[in-house]
Amino acid sequence: MSTSSETSPADVDRALDHLDAQGRRLLFSAARTANSFAATPVSDAELSDIWELAKWAPTAANSQPLRVLYVRPGEGRDRLLKHMNEGNRAKTASAPASAVLALDTQFHEHIPALLPYKPELKDVFAANEAMRTETGTFNATLQAGYFILAVRAHGLAAGPMAGFDAAGIDAEFFPDGRLHSILVVNIGHPGENPWFGRLPRLDHDDVVQWA
Ligand SMILES: Cc1cc2nc3c(=O)[nH]c(=O)nc-3n(C[C@H](O)[C@H](O)[C@H](O)COP(=O)(O)O)c2cc1C
Repeated sequence: MSTSSETSPADVDRALDHLDAQGRRLLFSAARTANSFAATPVSDAELSDIWELAKWAPTAANSQPLRVLYVRPGEGRDRLLKHMNEGNRAKTASAPASAVLALDTQFHEHIPALLPYKPELKDVFAANEAMRTETGTFNATLQAGYFILAVRAHGLAAGPMAGFDAAGIDAEFFPDGRLHSILVVNIGHPGENPWFGRLPRLDHDDVVQWA
């Protein structure tokens, strides 16, 4: 690789590293959504590392509006289970950990620290609730996708679920009203018969256009 001190910018080799085929399978083509989990534990360190990885993926204006509540078996999980849809209860009860992913509706308060070259954006968001909600929801959802891939990158299976009573979870875990749950993700090692049949994906040409 050339060094910038000896070459013009046009000559600098900016080639990035890339995942090999195994890495791509792990994150995408061979990864599955788990519907049951083994008793094998998942450590607090693994759960923290998942976020430490996911946090690097990009958000608009570096806003990072997603918050993560890890729920463990015991009292916390009992409180979670009662708000899950019936069809999602058994799989959630089998997971050694579940993450409640939530939007911080006041994410803009962190803007001066996260976007130091444009701290005034905090006040723009503060004055415009519609813009704040749209930006926050879009970017928290984006971060939820990154989170699922970070679970997979740690050799763990993810089971994302939107089937729950969001108002119920919010009242249960976030009573001050600041956080709004958007997704629950079960995390662990696959258990008995963990996969449903693989569903088809749209064909390339049904999705991709060129201009
Ligand atoms: C945002 C989102 C919400 C989902 N909600 C549920 C749910 O409530 N219950 C459920 O059993 N599966 C749920 N799923 C799982 C999907 O059905 C599953 O990921 C999809 O069919 C792909 O399965 P595969 O990864 O095994 O190919 C959800 C997945 C996502 C990404």
